Amino acid sequence: MSHKILEGKKGIVFGALDSSSIAWKTAEAIHKSGGKFVLTNAPVALRMGSISELAKQTNSSLISADATNMDDLSNLIDETQNIFGSKIDFVLHSIGMSVNVRKEKKYTELNYDWLTKGWDVSAVSFHKLLQVLYKCDAMNQWGSIVALSYIASQRVFPNYNDMADNKAYLESIARSFGYFFGKEKKVRVNTISQSPTITTAGKGVEGLNNFLNYAEKMSPLGNASAEDCANYIVSLFSDYTKKVSLQNLFHDGGFSNVGISEEIIKMFSD
Ligand SMILES: NC(=O)c1ccc[n+]([C@@H]2O[C@H](COP(=O)([O-])OP(=O)(O)OC[C@H]3O[C@@H](n4cnc5c(N)ncnc54)[C@H](O)[C@@H]3O)[C@@H](O)[C@H]2O)c1
Repeated sequence: MSHKILEGKKGIVFGALDSSSIAWKTAEAIHKSGGKFVLTNAPVALRMGSISELAKQTNSSLISADATNMDDLSNLIDETQNIFGSKIDFVLHSIGMSVNVRKEKKYTELNYDWLTKGWDVSAVSFHKLLQVLYKCDAMNQWGSIVALSYIASQRVFPNYNDMADNKAYLESIARSFGYFFGKEKKVRVNTISQSPTITTAGKGVEGLNNFLNYAEKMSPLGNASAEDCANYIVSLFSDYTKKVSLQNLFHDGGFSNVGISEEIIKMFSD
């Protein structure tokens, strides 16, 4: 599926850690579609992960930035514009982390210092990024900004813990900031609510495989893979979706609109 629909477009991809990351697959899909980009991740991920291989493979620059740090974000946006000699057309925010999930703290017993850290990384970082892009006037008109969410923002998935609240906050930021970005700069801002996917962040959620199997049986089209998500993101960065904004777009094989499937009913037959 390579249609060069991003030919001439330049952007930033946050969050590629290893080859299972949704951002990694997205970088590969953007590359195939003719887009150019800067890869970025937190300093620790640059040291531990294999992102430099992806940079080589896609002929991209790599700039370290902690997405919670305004100075890092400003430097990243300046450097990116220097590299391309122009403003930016697309940005992917593919970042999530909960200390409470990592340390297996139950939702009823959350540690609030950990909650604050996870909220800053997973949700507020999106506001910080949008603010830097907005103030620096770094986006081209009809540019596109996408962040990744999960349906636990809207329905109860007990093991998703405080990430559910972070995703609800993230989706709200996309709408609220998207309003101003649309009005003032003609830039669109959306979140994609993706199927459960096996990645480093995904594996942190207790029982992810069970979620995945359940969602597979509930979704008429089956779960959306990381590659499917990458292709969807490419379409949202293209000129074919210029008037899509302020949306939380379900990319889940239909899961979000199914009450129960025949497969699940059969599992409970006497
Ligand atoms: N895997 C799933 O089941 C699933 C489902 C729906 C949505 N999502 C979302 O997709 C996005 C990408 O996650 P993934 O599943 O590809 O996992 P991943 O672990 O590959 O990606 C998470 C990324 O966040 C980065 N990150 C963490 N702290 C950071 C910081 N301070 N600054 C900059 N980057 C930082 C990590 O280094 C990593 O690259 C996340 O927002 C996640 O919540 C994942």
